[in-house]
Amino acid sequence: MDKEVLLRFEFAKGLAYELGNIIKENVKSLKWTKTKSGFYDIVTNVDVEVERRLKERVSLAFPNDVVFGEETGIDEKATPDNYMWVVDPIDGTTNFSKKVPHSCVSIAITYKTKPIAGVVYDPFMDELFEAIKGEGAFLNGKRISVSDTKNLEDAVVNTGYQYSAVHMRDKVLKDYEAFFGKVRALRIFGSAVLDLCYVAAGRIDGFWEYELKPWDMAAGALIVEESGGIVMDLLSENFTIYSKSILATSPTLLSQMLKVLKEA
Ligand code: IPD
Ligand code: CA
Ligand code: CA
Repeated sequence: MDKEVLLRFEFAKGLAYELGNIIKENVKSLKWTKTKSGFYDIVTNVDVEVERRLKERVSLAFPNDVVFGEETGIDEKATPDNYMWVVDPIDGTTNFSKKVPHSCVSIAITYKTKPIAGVVYDPFMDELFEAIKGEGAFLNGKRISVSDTKNLEDAVVNTGYQYSAVHMRDKVLKDYEAFFGKVRALRIFGSAVLDLCYVAAGRIDGFWEYELKPWDMAAGALIVEESGGIVMDLLSENFTIYSKSILATSPTLLSQMLKVLKEA
């Protein structure tokens, strides 16, 4: 295993525990919540503080690395040859702001925009999902794999919608409706990162969403692939962290989920 990657991966895990605990400690004492692009798109003082700390720590430990975070964007020093940390300080901010205990910190280490390691920590469940490319996916140290559900009618599937992507409303509703009567249950949990990790752990059978951002997908997509799952872009040939859509499921359910989504 590459020593440089391993070093960053171990550092990311320590950081995820530390930052996740800040999220948990602050859930009942939020100082402020502000809107970003619309009344539905919010940020809290904790999102900002978690990203600030992460940037500070990464730049001290790995001065040549670049951080690409939801709240502060990308470092100016970015070149294709830097390791890039793609970070969502809190995924599930709306849940967090309402004291719904379902959110996480997500850290992906990428090289030439491809995820090579991913760490996701949910402090409310004390669950750490992790993967290094080619080495499998783990939850609290135990190997995980996607579900072995054979038929869509036995599946529980998740989706979500990007709050500011108002132009996608009809598509989101059509897709959702198309699954009615075809799956055991449909869910919207409010954290795309945890949705991906739950696919990886076999807790849900499939997940799709449009217009997610790199920090919503980079770590979780690698964790799904390393758990034996399939990650694809519904709108273009190859999935990348910049894709405008994502479908994550098991190899067994892939064609069944695609059929419903294509008919929608
Ligand atoms: C959001 C969550 C949500 C998804 C939205 C994302 P945030 O991220 O992942 O589940 O449906 O598209 O923007 O704002 O909580 O970091
Ligand atoms: Ca997010
Ligand atoms: Ca966020």
